[in-house]
This record gives sequence, C-alpha cells and structure tokens, in this order.
Amino acid sequence: MENIKALILSGGKGTRLRPLTHTMAKQLVPVANKPILGYVFEHIKEAGIRDVGVIVAPETQAEVKAYLGHGEKWDVKITYILQKQPLGLAHAVKTAQKFLKDSPFVMYLGDNLLGKGIKEALDKFRKTAYDALLFLKKVPNPGAFGVAVLNGKGRIKKLIEKPKNPPSNLALVGVYLFSPRIHEAIGRIQPSWRGELEITDAIQELIHMGARVEGEVLDCWWLDTGKKDDFLAANTTVLDDYVKRQVDGFVDEKSEVSGRVHVDATARVINSVIRGPVIIGPGVEIVDSFIGPYTSIGEGTRITNSVIEHSVILSQVIVEGVPRLEDSILGREAKIIKNQTRHKALRLMVGDQSLVEV
Ligand code: DAU
Repeated sequence: MENIKALILSGGKGTRLRPLTHTMAKQLVPVANKPILGYVFEHIKEAGIRDVGVIVAPETQAEVKAYLGHGEKWDVKITYILQKQPLGLAHAVKTAQKFLKDSPFVMYLGDNLLGKGIKEALDKFRKTAYDALLFLKKVPNPGAFGVAVLNGKGRIKKLIEKPKNPPSNLALVGVYLFSPRIHEAIGRIQPSWRGELEITDAIQELIHMGARVEGEVLDCWWLDTGKKDDFLAANTTVLDDYVKRQVDGFVDEKSEVSGRVHVDATARVINSVIRGPVIIGPGVEIVDSFIGPYTSIGEGTRITNSVIEHSVILSQVIVEGVPRLEDSILGREAKIIKNQTRHKALRLMVGDQSLVEV
C-alpha cells in the first residue's frame, strides 16, 4: 500500500471547554502538563507516519504552529492547512484534498486521547482492502457522539451522528483510517442539521457505495476532552497511566513526597506534603501546602499555604491560603488568594463563562 499520510484536525471552535478556550486552542490544553496534541503526535510518530497535514483555524493557528513547529520534535514533516470556517470534519478532509492526493490516510481529531497507539490498527489496514477502518467504544452516553451499528462480524451496517435515540452504545472514536474513496463519498453528501459536512454521513455514504467499512472495538481507554468533567477525568487517567516517580527538583527536609510524583528539576517543594500521582512542572513553587492525588501543576505556578486535590492548575497561577481546592481547573495566570485582612467576603474578578462554586 502507498505511504499512509496523517491528517490531524486542530481547527474548530472549542466552545464546550470555555473559558479556557477563549484564549487557547482546545487541542493545546495540557493533560498531565502536556498538550493533547503532544500525545497525538507521539502516536503518529510511533506508527511510522512521516507526512502529516494539520488543519488549523484562523483564530488559533499561530499558537498551534508555535507548539508543533515543522514537526521536528516527532521527526515528521508538517503541512499546515487553513480551514477558514469550522464547517465539519468532512469539510476539513475536503480542504486537505491537495495535501492528501490519492493516499490512504489516518484522520486523528486533535482533542481525542487514546490509551494506546495506532500502529497495530495501521498494520491491519495496510494488509486489507478496507475503505475505512473505524474505532468504536462502548459509552454510557452514545447520543453525544457518532454511533455505529455492527452486523455481528465487525462490519459496520449503519452510522448516525449524535442520534436522539441511539441504536447502540458504540461511539465513534475520533481516529479514522481511510482509503482515497472517502473523497468521492464526501462529494456526495449535504450539510447536516447543524450545518456541518459530517464525516459520519460520508462514511454512511461509503457503505451505500458498496465499500468495505470495518469497526474495531477499542480495548483501551478513550477520552474526548470536550467538557470540564471529561477533562478532569482525562487528567486523572493519564496521570494514573504515565506518571512515574521522578523527583528531580529541590525538596526540603521538612517535606514529604510519596508515591508516583514527578517534580521537575527546576521546581521547589518547601515544608509541604505531596501525594501522587502528581506532576509538578518547571519553576513551580509549593510552600506550606498539601498537594493530593491526581493533580497537575503547570509551569511557573506558586502555591502557598493551601490544600489542592484532583485538579488541573495551568501555568503562572498563584494560589495563596486556600484551605481546600478540589475538582478544579485553573487557567493560565489565574490568582486565588485568601484575603484575611478585611471582613469575610468573596472578592472576584471572573472572566466570561467561568464557573465558581462557593
Ligand atoms: O470525539 C469523537 C467524536 O468527534 C465522534 O464520535 C463524532 O462522530 C464526530 O463528529 C466528532 O464529534 P464532535 O462534535 O465532538 O467534534 P468536534 O466539533 O468537537 O470536532 C472534533 C475535532 O475536530 C476538534 O479538535 C476540532 C476539529 N475540527 C472540527 C470541525 C467541526 C476542525 O478542525 N474543523 C471543523 O470543521
């Protein structure tokens, strides 16, 4: 089979992860201190793909390019493809046609996280004459995804995008392997009720065309990082799977660091207790505090006299004197400070579409 290319989708609007995505691309939101796109590119590299197209949107292309560069970190060659409006996943493929030409390709949604790589599936795809190989996962809320109905032998009979009455609990995972026949199928479909050219409809069209469309149920975890709770769950799962104990930074003798805790070489832990799994990024300072399991702390953040558990703290954040912070996400340069000098009152400066539970 001809060389397989990759098409990574890093455009779109990211409305469901606001307010974080008011100022950053959702594909760059860090999980265990690494942008989601970093995990995607590791899978692409590991699968031996070298030629990678990246769909970008006008609003977020600069920061996506700043992170990915030319692909040198992963030894791949990146071609950026500007999609002026987020008109759907199939529209993104259409926009990338000049890059994809007649190559088979893997389409990987830049906000999807998978517990294992795609090498095995790619090897299978190379050996077969499938026109599409899709990944499926049983989920409790299939109505939030594309949903597949199988014929019993793994072949896909029917696909529907976000159905009101899901005919199965098998969701379409955001990683798809396609032969070039997908372009013909995309040419035949119309925008959906939400105004998008849906890849789900294009695959359904492939089935109508008599093409061979197979589904494989994933045997690892899969996370769509779309919303706050999904995102916290993703952080928990990734910390559980990937963090090893590695304490490179300074930890004073009054502190206790237990379990799988990663402390960057330039971080400092003073008179504090850290219980893993926890990741502490470069330049972080933890003073007189307790950091509990399933917490990620981004670069340059300073935490003093506080207790934090099961949370994602991004870079350059300040937390001071907060007695207990749980299940929280703090965006870049956020400040949470206990003000003890005046009468008891909350003094807030909360950005658009924030959520504060008091
Ligand atoms: O995550 C899996 C699901 O992804 C599938 O189960 C669905 O069948 C599929 O339609 C898709 O659903 P979403 O509604 O979650 O897709 P979303 O709009 O979030 O877009 C997915 C990624 O693709 C995201 O990183 C943004 C990017 N994107 C999206 C659109 C609509 C683009 O680059 N261009 C676009 O036009």
